[in-house]
Amino acid sequence: GSIEQTPTAGHRCRRVLFFPLPFQGHINPMFQLAALLHSRGFAVTVFHTHLNAPDASLHPDYDFIPVPDGGAPADTPGTVQVTLERVLAVNRACAAPFRDRLAALLEQQHDSDGVACLVADAHLLTLLDVARELGVPTLVLRTGSAACFRIFTAFPMLCANGYQPAEESPELLEAPVRELPPYRVRDLLSTTAAAHPVMAEAVTRIIKAVAASSGLIFNTFDALEHAELAALRRDLAVPVFDVGPLHLLSPPPPAAAASRTSSLLPPDRGCLEWLDAQAPASVLYVSFGSIATMSASDLVEAAWGIAGSGQPFLWVLRPGLVRGGALPSPPPLPEGFDVATRGRGAVVAWAPQEEVLAHAAVGAFWTHCGWNSTLEAACAGVPMLCRPCFGDQMGNARYVDHVWRVGVELDGGELERGKVAAAIAAVMGDVGETTDTGGMRRRALELRRRAAESVAEGGSSSFNVDRLVDHIMAL
Ligand code: UDX
Repeated sequence: GSIEQTPTAGHRCRRVLFFPLPFQGHINPMFQLAALLHSRGFAVTVFHTHLNAPDASLHPDYDFIPVPDGGAPADTPGTVQVTLERVLAVNRACAAPFRDRLAALLEQQHDSDGVACLVADAHLLTLLDVARELGVPTLVLRTGSAACFRIFTAFPMLCANGYQPAEESPELLEAPVRELPPYRVRDLLSTTAAAHPVMAEAVTRIIKAVAASSGLIFNTFDALEHAELAALRRDLAVPVFDVGPLHLLSPPPPAAAASRTSSLLPPDRGCLEWLDAQAPASVLYVSFGSIATMSASDLVEAAWGIAGSGQPFLWVLRPGLVRGGALPSPPPLPEGFDVATRGRGAVVAWAPQEEVLAHAAVGAFWTHCGWNSTLEAACAGVPMLCRPCFGDQMGNARYVDHVWRVGVELDGGELERGKVAAAIAAVMGDVGETTDTGGMRRRALELRRRAAESVAEGGSSSFNVDRLVDHIMAL
């Protein structure tokens, strides 16, 4: 994004409005997109809830408009059901105050820079509707993969053919979804009958939001999801813009790197120094993102599995990670773990993840396969050990393991320390083509190369950013 590409002089500076869903995995790509469009000459206004409000001081060039959200609870939701119920609550609570604030903004703007459009998260149907009612065109940012969106478009078929909600029998969960390879039933969105209604509603709302919009933006790139993007372009009536990986395309923020980005928790930068002292590709990085949770017994097995693997590790134990644990204290590690791993590990509450994954000392990533984490690891050439928790994460893990073959998935069910240690050895020890998992690291490095190509001049995502800029100017 260089200054020459700014919409030509003579044009008014156009303003793009943004409304992220107030969860970390949705805030990050929205802010990266805002920075990217800002670098192309657009003025930026960010509407946001009080819940997980951004730090305006980090973005002196943007305007921020808080929208009352009815006092949403600040603890991490932890399950897909609770998360999606909160999403609906945000839509409901923000609708009227958003209408007022947007109408006031439009009133002020009429003779200065014109509002070009609203870019909102795919989960914010009600707010997208409000904007269109006030005459503002809308673009939808979907923060998951294109492959996951194919599950959304196929959802009515998946329900009609009996795949959703999934029967809770082990054989059925392993069965392939013939109509939608490479997924198995257990990779789909709601594996329980209890989670199904709220998931079905979320999917319906997302499809509606996209259908009524002027375009759909994905944080992915063509070389990663070529067939999936092509299928979506066939199936959807709106233009699709794959402009990822956004963290590689968006210019660095103006504030010092230390206070980088839209992180809700302060990243512990000390772990980068600790990594500096480790051998190349020797460290297992462990993090489960911002909302996935684990049981207390899984934490214990994970800890002893990590200890038993004998590998150096950097582990993000964020407050709230363990279900039922007391907040805000970090989850307690089992007694003796410290001694067993002395000198071999670092534990932090939150890491500067992009920098960690890009660090030469990191050899593999044990992840819950949130889409941002998956994409960040793929772009850093780091093989993954996958332990998906809910929503789109199972499908992401399937692609990592089975399509891109840059990682392995840990069995579902409860964690067991011996299996954990063996799985860690498999991803960390993958140095040649001879092992079962052989070639993972080579393929991961190949993905890294292709990600870099896609955002370079002439690359697919750079081209799509240009298309997106032209599209917004023409709205
Ligand atoms: C959620 C969903 O789970 C995910 O599947 C969906 O696609 C987006 O929203 P989350 O579970 O938090 O997100 O995971 P993820 O998508 O990986 O996003 C987490 C973000 O936090 C990443 O950008 C990651 O770099 C960042 N992070 C995580 C840190 O900066 N530090 C950490 O210690 C951990």
